[in-house]
Amino acid sequence: MRQDHGTDAIARPHSADRRLGRSRLGIGFAAATLALAACGGDDGGGGGAGDAEGYPDGEITIVVPFSAGGPTDTVTRLIAEPMSAELGQQIVVQNVEGAGGTVAAGEVAAANPDGYTVLMHHIGMSTAPSLYPDLAYDPLEDFKTIGLVTEVPMTIVARKDLEPETMEELVDYVTANADTVTLANAGIGAASHLCGLLFQEAIGQKLTEVPYEGTGPALTDLVGGQVDIMCDQTTNTTGQIQAGEIKAYAVTTPERVESLPDLPTTEEAGLEGMEVSVWHGLYVPAEVSDEIVQKLSDALKVALADQNVIDQLAELGSTPSSEEDATPEAHTERLQEQIELWRPVIEEAGVSAD
Ligand code: MLT
Repeated sequence: MRQDHGTDAIARPHSADRRLGRSRLGIGFAAATLALAACGGDDGGGGGAGDAEGYPDGEITIVVPFSAGGPTDTVTRLIAEPMSAELGQQIVVQNVEGAGGTVAAGEVAAANPDGYTVLMHHIGMSTAPSLYPDLAYDPLEDFKTIGLVTEVPMTIVARKDLEPETMEELVDYVTANADTVTLANAGIGAASHLCGLLFQEAIGQKLTEVPYEGTGPALTDLVGGQVDIMCDQTTNTTGQIQAGEIKAYAVTTPERVESLPDLPTTEEAGLEGMEVSVWHGLYVPAEVSDEIVQKLSDALKVALADQNVIDQLAELGSTPSSEEDATPEAHTERLQEQIELWRPVIEEAGVSAD
């Protein structure tokens, strides 16, 4: 697998019309056991573009909508290697940052539908229609889903010299210093943004949010002490928590994670309505043929059964999707559910990328 940390344009233009999403915001954060994530839409029909028989006969690009070194990038690079071996072609991972992942998704939606440009995305795919009034693509109409990839817990973390040692102390501290405490995230619609909104809702405070192009660079600043707190995926934070480079207060799943056994769950730590996990999925432009989608989905299943992938994801607190979930059908179903789930939450919260 060749690795590419660049952000060069990857769009390969084609003539399909793009429908502009005009969704309003929505969802009440209060009562929340919410699965953060993203997926894509499969029209279920046959046909589509691309030479399915000879596919793949060249390099495939997987576009990551956030910075290199962050959680989405980590998961992508893990599966890219066994997918590449299975497909018999190089896979390049390309980071196209911006606007909570919508820049990359827009580029892939408009790319040549030949199966050589693939998008990895998460929750942002399902929340974007509610957050971005002028979204240039429709997640269900403009993509086909390949399959779900992982489920990742989130952690509430802080720079290591922040005073509080426990969640209770953190809530008191943040409440007393709400006008100065900074909360890092990866832009509107990113998992860290949504989880941060849930955290603010849970403690009844509004904090100063500091957006980055991904939580890779945000974590670097958290370690460096430039920002105070963040809510981020275990695939990004586990190593720094274990190394004592950042403080961790809770994991946002109902159960503790094996790689961080001493870290309480949000419920154990006394935070109501803060169960969240992030799921990821792979997408191609909607006009890609069903045969190519199936080849990619089969390669994804092989990658998710790879022992190295399973072990590395486990070390990072994450689990690969089951064979059943790594399918276009399960992925589309999840996307539809999540779009419906998040619309009222975002509307109620009054959050918009406007
Ligand atoms: C990333 O890869 O940087 C993250 O997935 C960003 C986020 O959604 O918080």
